[in-house]
Amino acid sequence: MAGNWKMYKTPAEGKTFVRSLAQRIGTVEHAVVVVAPPFTGLSAAVDAALGTSVSVAAQNVFWDEQGAFTGEISPPMLTSLGVRWVIIGHSERRLLFGETDQGVARKVRAALDHGLLPILCVGETEEEREAGLTEERLASQVSKGLADVRPDEAQLLTLAYEPVWAIGTGKTATPEIAQEAISFVRGRVAAALDPEAAQVIRILYGGSVKPDNIGELMVQADIDGALVGGASLDVESFAAIVEYPR
Ligand code: 13P
Repeated sequence: MAGNWKMYKTPAEGKTFVRSLAQRIGTVEHAVVVVAPPFTGLSAAVDAALGTSVSVAAQNVFWDEQGAFTGEISPPMLTSLGVRWVIIGHSERRLLFGETDQGVARKVRAALDHGLLPILCVGETEEEREAGLTEERLASQVSKGLADVRPDEAQLLTLAYEPVWAIGTGKTATPEIAQEAISFVRGRVAAALDPEAAQVIRILYGGSVKPDNIGELMVQADIDGALVGGASLDVESFAAIVEYPR
């Protein structure tokens, strides 16, 4: 269960949030709980998460270790802070900041090479869905994003299916639509890596996940967790998602 804070929360707010969340959820055995603050809040969040059931993700990473790349952050810069996870290829990065499938693949490879656990995001836009291009888009994002990954690395990888039309819109994909797309994505992982990798890889659903729809999403056969935006900004609602009715 991962909370993507996007461009919200100062370091102090993030620290308070992680402390309260950790206290609220206690020891969690049924799920891995991850929060993804902005870069400036990573260090404070890692400190607050030490010794708790919460771990910390960055929202982006560059592929080189160092160099003349103004504004970028490298994998060793993240690991040196104690960050364990990184979201890669979120649709906001692809659509607003021009990230390409090739860049996404390089970031996934660099993350793995430095011991960071990638959460690779894929998803179609509303126009693509209406034009019947959902599967084509997902197939291409999966095969290109995983181009440099080996099948034996599948247990280190998490995918997130986030239909762009469901992000921040309050329009959740129905559990059936989410299941259908995620099952398709799992099939493409089998093709890109191998069938065993497709079984081990974790696949999350993201897009307007809330405490009142998490239960019906989680009962779907292929949905292993959620990548939560808006509802992860509030301790009570994110805790309720983590503790979804099982
Ligand atoms: P919302 O949960 O706000 O729709 O955002 C989803 C998302 O983009 C998570 O990465």
